[in-house]
Amino acid sequence: MTTIQARPGSPYARLYSVGSAIPSRVVDNEEMCTYIDSSDEWIQQRTGITERRWIAEGEDAQSLAKKAAESAIERSGLSLDQIDAVIVSTVSQYKQTPAMAPLLAADLGLQDAAAFDIGAACAGFCYGVAQADALVRSGAATHVLVVGVETLSKITDLHDRSTAFLFADGAGAAVVGPSEVNGIGPVEWGSDGYQAEVIDMTADWLTAVEQGVPSYVKMNGQAVFRWATGYIADAAKRTLEAAGITPDQLDCFIPHQANNRITDSMLRHLKLPEKVVVARTIKQLGNTSAASVPIAMDELLSSGQAKSGDTALIIGFGAGLVYAGQVVVLP
Ligand code: UT7
Repeated sequence: MTTIQARPGSPYARLYSVGSAIPSRVVDNEEMCTYIDSSDEWIQQRTGITERRWIAEGEDAQSLAKKAAESAIERSGLSLDQIDAVIVSTVSQYKQTPAMAPLLAADLGLQDAAAFDIGAACAGFCYGVAQADALVRSGAATHVLVVGVETLSKITDLHDRSTAFLFADGAGAAVVGPSEVNGIGPVEWGSDGYQAEVIDMTADWLTAVEQGVPSYVKMNGQAVFRWATGYIADAAKRTLEAAGITPDQLDCFIPHQANNRITDSMLRHLKLPEKVVVARTIKQLGNTSAASVPIAMDELLSSGQAKSGDTALIIGFGAGLVYAGQVVVLP
């Protein structure tokens, strides 16, 4: 039998860096309440959000992704030609094809990097990290840029009081590469397509085109809330166990920024000690889906609340329904 040569990979992978970009337009709860029948008090009590960011003139998903990616690449200390794969997680690439990843790769000046998008909604960054980790360990790639980017303001009905106040825009990026010690724990992930309708679009792409109707995100918030505080809280626990990390060994908890009440419920379920730093970027940035975990990670590091080498539990969950979590060493 002919022997096919294999390409050796790295024993382990780790995060080299993280970067983020948030759009310039600040939309506070007061402005939000000009679109929906709500109040600053209700939004803050139910979610923890005081304001969110939306793209303004001259900004779009790709420009946010580029800014976040440039920051992550610069902080990684790598040169552009060392990045050989780009993974973009987004539901904000409005063309069916091409994907955003090859466009972003070209925009960054990369040459011949493998590039593809993944659609894993709010779990997308953690799905991307899982893939990057596997690519690096298998030898399929050496340095992988993982980007989570969304401009949800463009696919949210601003007059829908069940979604408008939650969703927002932003981008986060990380570089994953080879390591002598393990920096990315086993991914705990899964899906429940039987519940797909709880976060869906009001019209599919073809219907929107053929019938000229808009297509917006719609959500059964209570159903998602129950799933997140039950099944996903358990998944977070399994993620820690899979990495062999006890709650007191954890430095940071960086859950998808969906709702502070979901984060609080997970904290209780995980029995995390008080010293664990918890990401709360939802307060000023809302829910930026695939971008929320890397933005929150960057914010914890740049504000000094967390430091390089800290151990963090990251977990994303959302439309699909899908989820993914890992314990990672912060870059
Ligand atoms: O990122 C993807 C994953 N997404 C999530 O994780 C979202 C999960 N879900 C949630 O975060 C919450 O379900 C929401 C924040 C979306 C809603 O909060 P809730 O506590 O589940 O509210 P509810 O739908 O149970 O509504 C409670 C009350 C109702 O009034 P009554 O019947 O108690 O009188 C609603 O009519 O709040 C009312 N309400 C509002 N009031 C002011 C619903 N939406 C609003 C609103 N402003 N926007």
